Amino acid sequence: MELSESPQIIEVQFCNLCNSCCSICPYKDMKYKPEYMSTSLFLKLINELKMLNLKRIIPYLNNEPFIDKNYISQIKVLRANCPNAELEISTNASLLTEDIMNELLKLNITELRLSVFGYYKKTYNKMMPNLTKSVVFKNLHKLSKVFKDSKTKISIVMIDNGQINEIEFQKMKALATKLNFEFNKWGFLDRAKNVKNQTNNFYNDKVNFCEQFRPLERMHILADGDVVFCCQDWKHQYVVGNLNKNSIIEIWNSKEYNSLRKHLYDKKLVAPDLCCNCKLAQVKE
Ligand SMILES: C[S@@+](CC[C@H](N)C(=O)[O-])C[C@H]1O[C@@H](n2cnc3c(N)ncnc32)[C@H](O)[C@@H]1O
Ligand code: SF4
Ligand code: SF4
Repeated sequence: MELSESPQIIEVQFCNLCNSCCSICPYKDMKYKPEYMSTSLFLKLINELKMLNLKRIIPYLNNEPFIDKNYISQIKVLRANCPNAELEISTNASLLTEDIMNELLKLNITELRLSVFGYYKKTYNKMMPNLTKSVVFKNLHKLSKVFKDSKTKISIVMIDNGQINEIEFQKMKALATKLNFEFNKWGFLDRAKNVKNQTNNFYNDKVNFCEQFRPLERMHILADGDVVFCCQDWKHQYVVGNLNKNSIIEIWNSKEYNSLRKHLYDKKLVAPDLCCNCKLAQVKE
């Protein structure tokens, strides 16, 4: 795949917070200062997004999107200005009220992913300790009713971190089917060694390729306007520009972005340390 002239997919967070501290996620160790995207930056972003012929917009990034009281209004503005882009949202489903569900229904969401990391209470509480399983499972049932005639692809996501019995995945899959949702069991990623308590034990300084093509088609924007090279960069060590100062296109073509791309894809150079530690990086002959 060649570098796109402009990003095809945008991941953006309007707020950097989460209400959970999942055992498999780096969030709990990051201690971020709360950050909400300013109205002026939000409007600048929307004005630029509507000029780009984007394939998909992903309005969350390493956060819990529904923690932000303004989230639905922001998605309404986004949808009105980018009527043809696919919209993908992922949530832990703990904060979905019936009002929010009904608003979401009107917004032509392409994909709604629900992170529910345990079927049994014991597993759920171990994996998602801040949340209440009974509340989330009630929300799943409500959501199924509200979205019963919609085209939105809804899926329940569980992560196989090697500590969950196969029976539990099967139980969740059966529940998903009953609710008219899809089910996805994903492999555990340590987010380029950003999860403290579990690791993929991956390191390779010969990598020269990204399995997900992220640097070539996808841009990652934080609530303060910083653009990071990749969503795996939970510590924000690879900032390639800031949207308050420059446009999306200027940042996409910036010296900083291109230098990181060159280091990743040029076989003669050593890839950014982030990629050397990332299970999604590969060596291509
Ligand atoms: C970091 S979450 C942010 C959105 C929201 N808070 C949620 O949990 O769905 C984004 C996606 O990453 C997935 N995820 C979280 N931790 C993971 C891990 N260690 N390995 C692979 N995927 C993970 C979640 O299931 C979710 O689909
Ligand atoms: S996986 Fe999602 S819900 Fe869990 S801590 Fe990470 S961002 Fe929050
Ligand atoms: S950190 Fe991983 S996912 Fe991100 S660009 Fe590098 S190889 Fe791809």
